Amino acid sequence: MASKQHTSVPRNPGQGRANVSDVELVWEGKAAPSKRRPRPLALVETIRAKGEGRATGEGGAESEGEAPGVPDGWTNKLIHGDNATALASLAPTYRGEVGLIYADPPFATGGEFRLRRPDGSKAGETAYSDAWGPGLASYLQMLYERLALMRELLAERGTLYLHVDWRAGHYARVMLDELFGRPAFRNTIVWHYGGRGAKAIAGQFPRNHDMLLVYAKSPGAAFNRLRQVRRVPVEEAPRRGYRRDADGRWFKTAPRGDYTDASIRRLEQEGRIYRTRTGRERVKYFLPVEGGHVLDEKLLGDVWDDIGDMMHAPAAERTGFPTQKPEALLARIIEASSKPGDLVADFFCGSGTTAAVAERLGRRWIACDSSLAAIDIARRRLTSMPRHGPFDLLSATAGAG
Ligand SMILES: C[S@@+](CC[C@H](N)C(=O)[O-])C[C@H]1O[C@@H](n2cnc3c(N)ncnc32)[C@H](O)[C@@H]1O
Repeated sequence: MASKQHTSVPRNPGQGRANVSDVELVWEGKAAPSKRRPRPLALVETIRAKGEGRATGEGGAESEGEAPGVPDGWTNKLIHGDNATALASLAPTYRGEVGLIYADPPFATGGEFRLRRPDGSKAGETAYSDAWGPGLASYLQMLYERLALMRELLAERGTLYLHVDWRAGHYARVMLDELFGRPAFRNTIVWHYGGRGAKAIAGQFPRNHDMLLVYAKSPGAAFNRLRQVRRVPVEEAPRRGYRRDADGRWFKTAPRGDYTDASIRRLEQEGRIYRTRTGRERVKYFLPVEGGHVLDEKLLGDVWDDIGDMMHAPAAERTGFPTQKPEALLARIIEASSKPGDLVADFFCGSGTTAAVAERLGRRWIACDSSLAAIDIARRRLTSMPRHGPFDLLSATAGAG
């Protein structure tokens, strides 16, 4: 990595130097994202809508009626093939049209992923390969080309979420700074999903989080603040710092902060001042109780520790795809960065989690994967939903078009 303005760093050691402005990640054989010729995607089949129209995405997934903003005649798209080909083919029509892209590429593990049986054991059939030869260069070039194409499709108010882990996440961050510009960076969301067995703790702290690198196409990118409700069992509440007043109301406290003395007097009259044993004033925040739980709501931050991994997901959600992500994770991303009717895309769609959640939340979607096993699972998953809009199964494989 170069770190000086307009400096020159060895690109391929011994093979000349590349001009770098500001900071840039380089790897052996780094080449500008290649221009791919768009080729028509071949229509394999149109899957008809099921149930009573689409979900609206308003007031939860189950509301009735046509999705607001979904244009008449819109058909979602499930594409089999290399996403570089699919992205190039979609660009003439969808450049600047996609509101949200979630990208969950292979993590450069060097391994091969096999489908799983419902009991979690490996079923044998290969889902996809994540082997890239020695070094990271070919992996990084693959990602670079695709992220550049994805940026083209993003709408001005669009956002990209790139799902990565400790293996390549730091490189991806620098790569995205280059492709989107550093001011486009929004967050590194830490998805803390819990432990992963003995292997993960040999010789190091347990590795128990992934990262979502969030980049906005422009400063005005769509964003809905989300709130997180912590449900604390009443029996545990005192141990976790919650208190109860003489009337039985649960509350938490916070330092008085910027409150003026006059405001403190007003809060005192409202019964909202708590005095510690040393006499310090703290402000009380009363909390509702529901079903034996104190409900503590706060603004959702950039550490998400309330969504478990697939091992903890309901059995009905598990598709047997080895690197499937929880629907709760995708629902949160989609709700934060899109609205009903928006176009949501996932070009490493695997088992179709993004498509299924987008469908349920009344968004339009495009999903793509190069693995036939993934496409089969995604298709089955979507068609087994109680209701869904129509979708085209398309092919971007070499013979297409
Ligand atoms: C980590 S998995 C995605 C899992 C997905 N988020 C889910 O919930 O099931 C990565 C996926 O990327 C796909 N993939 C890898 N390279 C690809 C490429 N060049 N084009 C399209 N899909 C690709 C793999 O087949 C695999 O299904």
